[in-house]
Amino acid sequence: MATLDGTRLAGKVAVVTGAGIGQGRSTALRLAREGAHVVAVDVSGAQKDTAAELPDLIEPANADATNAEQWQAVVAQTTERHGRLDILCNVVGAAGIAQARIPDVDEDDYDRLMSINLKSVFLGMKYAIPAMVASGGGSIINWSSVGALVSSPTTSVYGASKAGILAMTRAAAREWGEANIRVNSLVPGFVYPTGMTLMGEEKFPESVARAASKSALNRPGHPDEIAAVAAFLASDDASYITGSSLVVDGGWTAG
Ligand SMILES: NC(=O)c1ccc[n+]([C@@H]2O[C@H](COP(=O)([O-])OP(=O)(O)OC[C@H]3O[C@@H](n4cnc5c(N)ncnc54)[C@H](O)[C@@H]3O)[C@@H](O)[C@H]2O)c1
Repeated sequence: MATLDGTRLAGKVAVVTGAGIGQGRSTALRLAREGAHVVAVDVSGAQKDTAAELPDLIEPANADATNAEQWQAVVAQTTERHGRLDILCNVVGAAGIAQARIPDVDEDDYDRLMSINLKSVFLGMKYAIPAMVASGGGSIINWSSVGALVSSPTTSVYGASKAGILAMTRAAAREWGEANIRVNSLVPGFVYPTGMTLMGEEKFPESVARAASKSALNRPGHPDEIAAVAAFLASDDASYITGSSLVVDGGWTAG
């Protein structure tokens, strides 16, 4: 039997996307350690490694979060096996695509990034919300980014996708509050090590120190520090928080 950190999420059923590595992996493990049954979704295959760490509580699911049919299958499989769905963590996201000055952004890259970052969140909510209504309520956490709040040349598409998540989250919170579904965004600063930031470091070795220095704490956030906030938002400790965006950036955007 897996060792639990607590029982705050005992009996809850969660779907976490991007659960193979980085913040999705940390979040799947944290929710499970707090007692939830977790369906760990990814396309990479690494979701199996995450599930293997707590096999009693985490099951892997291979699905593309930009694909409606695959989302339907994940939600159907979850409710058939566990009878309910209480928590959805839309963690999937990518960077390094469509990263250019606007005239140089390839249109197909624009569509691809918007699909991975924003459509995945839309589809997740589209198919999870009816299952949560049937479960009597739930908590949805959508991963945005400080890229929605601050910008630099070449981040227009990434920033727009992440700002879109903030707007969609607020609207979803207004739509589903009466069904006892809370919807919030999590807004991470620079988080390391993750798939995304390790890849960035490979291309630009100085990127970690540069990004870390933007935070007041002068260090990157660890994926487990984001997962801790996600577990709070997923739990009844956050029962009056909905339509919010919680910035977890070590003080970056306070500057
Ligand atoms: N890492 C950071 O510094 C940072 C900062 C701010 C916001 N974010 C956001 O946080 C989220 C997680 O970032 P991370 O760096 O931990 O991610 P990561 O790169 O470590 O992991 C992303 C995971 O998503 C999976 N994935 C990608 N496309 C998928 C798809 N279509 N369907 C299913 N799975 C898919 C990948 O296989 C990978 O396992 C992202 O939304 C990212 O934009 C990251």
